[in-house]
Parts: sequence; structure tokens; C-alpha cells
Amino acid sequence: MSTRRTFIKQSALASTLVASGGISMSEIIAQPQIKKTVISTWHFGLIANEPAWEILSKNGSALDAVEAGVKITEADKKIQSVGYGGLPDRDGRVTLDACIMDEKGNCGSVVFLEHILHPVSVARAVMEKTPHVMLAGDGALQFALANGFKKQDLLTTETKEAWEKWCKEHQYSPMKIDRDNHDTIGMLALDASGNLSGACTTSGLAWKIHGRVGDSPIIGAGLFIDNEIGGATATGKGEAVMKMCGSFLIVELMRNGKTPTEACKIAVERIVKHQPDYKDFQVGFLALNKRGETGGYAITKGFQYAVHNGENVLIDAEHFVKD
Ligand code: GLY
Repeated sequence: MSTRRTFIKQSALASTLVASGGISMSEIIAQPQIKKTVISTWHFGLIANEPAWEILSKNGSALDAVEAGVKITEADKKIQSVGYGGLPDRDGRVTLDACIMDEKGNCGSVVFLEHILHPVSVARAVMEKTPHVMLAGDGALQFALANGFKKQDLLTTETKEAWEKWCKEHQYSPMKIDRDNHDTIGMLALDASGNLSGACTTSGLAWKIHGRVGDSPIIGAGLFIDNEIGGATATGKGEAVMKMCGSFLIVELMRNGKTPTEACKIAVERIVKHQPDYKDFQVGFLALNKRGETGGYAITKGFQYAVHNGENVLIDAEHFVKD
């Protein structure tokens, strides 16, 4: 955040540069300071933002920042909706979805991946080492192992017990997707060079049918970046987000002049208009524009997001359903 002292220092520097003929005042005015920022979903975004901010504050890349940030959530076994310790599908298997996108529009994605602690890093390897965007299931696992990732069991004692309890109570019937069983981490960052990147990673819906993939690894649904405009990411019921390409829509709305919050709100209203059961589930969107402005919006109360641009704060998102 720009303090009065840093403003005075910058003004003095600008005057010196102008006086020495190094740069014109109009050039200075035309080059506003880039507002390094990281934004991520839910309360656990606060912890994930820290390593991301560490990288941004040292003028590292937004791409490195978002990968480092979401890896914290992937490795935290207490977070039962992402990575290690994520609740399994109805067959007791933890299957992961993740994607990453950089400022050049490069992207990588893995879907239905098992046994790998950091799916976001496999997604980055898909982006950087293959001519493809998305690898799925066993092929994604083989690719990960061939690239040095280690195979490990992602089911914990706690999630195994929760699954056994669910099996007894639900007799293998697919769960209704309610408001509480999917808390993806999506993260967007703007770095000192003015570049944007994003990442999104999840273990998906608890007790899902084996093979189910959500919005999180789908470029344009769970995540989208356009370095000229901004980025967006989503959390909540993936099926609802996939039906309307939520993140792509939000970036296009920002291209047409909407603020991040306005764009997220319009995307939520699009779900409300076309999906009559919207009160039964949650979707939350986040957006970050090229100026470092942030915003979020959700269907119902309870969606929070964390923003770090020098200070790390948790924000209660505005929401459509008021009751
Ligand atoms: N948004 C995460 C999922 O539906 O899998």
C-alpha cells in the first residue's frame, strides 16, 4: 500500500528525473505503479497467500507465486477439499483436478489424477514440457512419475473413517451437491512486471461418482487469465460453473469495463437465471484486474476470500441470496 512517505519519495524522484531530462512528467503519469497483489478463495487463502506474497514482494513471477501458494493448501491434510487429506470419491479414492495459466496464455491441467501430492505442479509440467493442455487419469499419473513426482497415498486416517461412515449411511448413492462439500483453492496474482497468472486445485466433490471431474481444471470455467485484462477463478459446485464458462465470462465482462466485483456479480446472476435450483448450492467467483483491483461475489452467504497486497486480509464476499 502506498504511504504518504513513499508517495513523497516517488514524487521527489520523479521531479529529479524530469529536471535531469531523463523522463517527461507525462511519461511518469502514464506509468502508474504496478500494484502487486495476490487473491485466493476461502479462509485458507490467508495461509496460501503468504508464500505467494513472499515471491511477489521480491519481484518474482506471478506464475511462481500462484504455484507456491496453492501448494500449501494441497499439502495441508486438515483441508478436506484439496490435495492430501481431501475427501475421496464414493469408491474411497482421492482423485485430484488442477490447472495453472500464465501471462502468455499458456496453460496446463490435470484431471482425475491420483497419488500425487502436488497436482498443480504436474499441471505446470504439462504446460511447460508437453505440447498439450490437459492430461487425465492414469496418463497424468504416468506423466507425473516420469517427471520425478513421487507416488503416495493421499487418504488419511480421518478421511478413510469419514468415507467408511458415509458408505454405511448412504449405500453408495451419489450425493446431492449441497452448499458445503466443495471448497476449491483458486488463486490469482499480479507481479511487479505487471503480469498475471492463476492456479486452481481441488480434490473435488466429496463422495462423487468415480471419474467425475469438476470445473477447477477446466480452462475458462475454474480459471482464466488474459494478461491484457485480468483473471478470474471459481469455487463451489463445479457443474454449475462449467455450464456457463464462469471464469472466461468474468474476464470478458472486465474487458467490457466492469469492475472485478461487478463482473463476478453478473456471472452469479447468469447462474441464477439459468439454474433454478441455485439456492441449494454455492458458487463463489474471484477476479483481479490488470490494475490490481480485486473483487468477489457468491450465490449465498459464507464465501470468503483473502487478498494480500502488503497486508493479508480476509473478506466476506457479497452474495445474491439475501435471506
Ligand atoms: N469446484 C470444485 C468442484 O466442483 O470440483
